[in-house]
Amino acid sequence: MAASRALCACLAMALLAVAMAKVSPTLTDKLVDLIKKKELSKFVEELQLKDMDVNQPDSKGTLPLIEAVRGKDFKFVDALLQYGALAKSKDPATGTTPLHVAFQTNNPQIARFLLSFGADPNATDKAGKKAREISPSKEIADLIATWDKEGAMAFEDPPGTWAKKSEKSSEEYWFNVKTGESRWTAPPSAAWQRIDMQGQPIKYTNYITGQTVAKCPPPLAWVKVRADGKEMFYNWKINFTQVEKPEEVPKELLEDIEKNVNQRWLNQKTLEWSWSDPTFNTPWRELHDAEHDKDYWYNVETGESVWEIPEAMAWTKLKDDESGGHFFHNRLTQDSSWEAPEHLDWVRHDSDL
Ligand SMILES: *[C@@H]1O[C@H](CO)[C@@H](O)[C@H](O)[C@H]1NC(C)=O
Ligand SMILES: *[C@@H]1O[C@H](CO)[C@@H](O)[C@H](O)[C@H]1NC(C)=O
Repeated sequence: MAASRALCACLAMALLAVAMAKVSPTLTDKLVDLIKKKELSKFVEELQLKDMDVNQPDSKGTLPLIEAVRGKDFKFVDALLQYGALAKSKDPATGTTPLHVAFQTNNPQIARFLLSFGADPNATDKAGKKAREISPSKEIADLIATWDKEGAMAFEDPPGTWAKKSEKSSEEYWFNVKTGESRWTAPPSAAWQRIDMQGQPIKYTNYITGQTVAKCPPPLAWVKVRADGKEMFYNWKINFTQVEKPEEVPKELLEDIEKNVNQRWLNQKTLEWSWSDPTFNTPWRELHDAEHDKDYWYNVETGESVWEIPEAMAWTKLKDDESGGHFFHNRLTQDSSWEAPEHLDWVRHDSDL
């Protein structure tokens, strides 16, 4: 008796919840409707509403981004991503991602754009199906292969593509110097940050795509150079020079770059130049394990950790008290040598170019 009354109460609550969902249309209802009607300017106006949450499904459970991808109109997808739609979002009922739909409708342009914003081809829907399992064409298969190699960063615009403009600081926007296109929010190539935590190897994270890498990504690989009295910025990953400040670079990192004009290293053995600190050219980093109070070595490329010093890192530079010069000692083999091993033979330069 008591149990059946409780059951009734539950049922009533459930019905009430359904009724409430029906009578209170969410803000995105109109948005989804405008996508269906393909009314772009009204759609953009709607996006700018103060309380708009573009990641909320409409009252039928449709995500605006999924509807836009289904409608195959790039401009709607672009506008949604600019106003904060998450490329990784999932349809609440089926778990389908916008990328599943872009692959199903065989739209490489939209698929590429979603991937550049962090969409994951390995994400599964509720039936366990990965977007990558729907590969209707060579173009889509190529996109998946490219993502497998480098992840989201493979789809970024090259460094120097985007500049920041602001008439007033409240009206900051991004400007594509190649196409003239502008957008309100940072493009993924301008979303890299260097994460430098004590006791951990430096890593780089993209706050739009969520990608984390151990090597400096191209949008941060800038140095300031001076040649013939002229100052410029040089990107050593893509061999590209520009006069303007690279605005993909976060403020503190840019300050560092501007302080160290022409900073570069020469390997005296191989005569090779390096624009980045050669300490970080090997994948091994010496770190400290607090639990065992012991140093260990971590390979940032393979993820491997070892207690024993790797052979390549065993050489250290020591001072010779007698001559005042330096010599090199191998901690593993106990060999000593006046000549520097290759990976330690780097000398810093900052003369004009
Ligand atoms: C994605 O899935 C493929 C095949 O299912 C697998 O080989 C690959 O390692 C996965 N990639 C990531 C980053 O999880
Ligand atoms: C870099 O570009 C310049 C011209 O812009 C060219 O002369 C030089 O050979 C290039 N260097 C490399 C390593 O590609």
